[in-house]
Amino acid sequence: MIVLKTAEDFKGMRAAGIIAAKALELGGSLVRPGISTLEIDRQIQKYIEAQGASAPCLGYHGFPCATCISVNNAVIHGIPSAKQLLKEGDIVDIDVVVLYKGYHGDTAATFPCGKVSEEAERLMRVTREARDLGILQAKAGNRVGDIAHAIQAHCEAAGFSMVREYTGHGVGFEMHEDPSIPNYGPAGRGMRLVAGMTVAIEPMVNLGGKEIRLLSDGWTAVTKDGSLSAHFEHSVGITDSDPVIFTAV
Ligand code: MF3
Ligand code: CO
Ligand code: CO
Repeated sequence: MIVLKTAEDFKGMRAAGIIAAKALELGGSLVRPGISTLEIDRQIQKYIEAQGASAPCLGYHGFPCATCISVNNAVIHGIPSAKQLLKEGDIVDIDVVVLYKGYHGDTAATFPCGKVSEEAERLMRVTREARDLGILQAKAGNRVGDIAHAIQAHCEAAGFSMVREYTGHGVGFEMHEDPSIPNYGPAGRGMRLVAGMTVAIEPMVNLGGKEIRLLSDGWTAVTKDGSLSAHFEHSVGITDSDPVIFTAV
């Protein structure tokens, strides 16, 4: 069921989104060789709670932390750990969800740790561009497939592959609402977008093959071939004109 949002809801989504964006920015600023992913998680959680907001990933279907941090070949849903120390050359996906006054903001970005390879740089840049091209398609009258196609075409033209098993999603009163927003598929197909929809657009892109597997922790998705993976996400609101990016800083 799709829950459309009012103008007042858009204000609430923006308030939650700003906190999520700033929390993500803080996380990115902490990425450096030697820091543990748990330390980054703890500092983000502290920041979110100091804003009077909460981090609803904590306890979500048993997830143990406030954020998901997925390093190198980890695609998404990495569990922050005191044992996982970042090293020069890593790429680090930090995914933050904030709940504030009843509204969810969901945003992610992949950050370089120190100097990374040219291929890693290109993977991150193309994934971010794909997310932004998807957002440009998020307007009333278009279809879900228009977002999907814009994302897929950009990444595959660069020689990368799209993860199929996880998708973007509606976001708002719940962390995950309808509709699902896949990152692959033909343009002109799927549900029509209408003003008042609020969605998270989040391509997950692999340097090698598209296949993934789940680690035995039950959460972390990793690439089957061990290749690097990147992920960028914004929560946006659909209008009759330009989309509103709730999680822009
Ligand atoms: N932030 C993730 C998303 O983009 C959801 C994480 S749920 C958790 O949809 F439980 F893994 F934290
Ligand atoms: Co997210
Ligand atoms: Co999301």
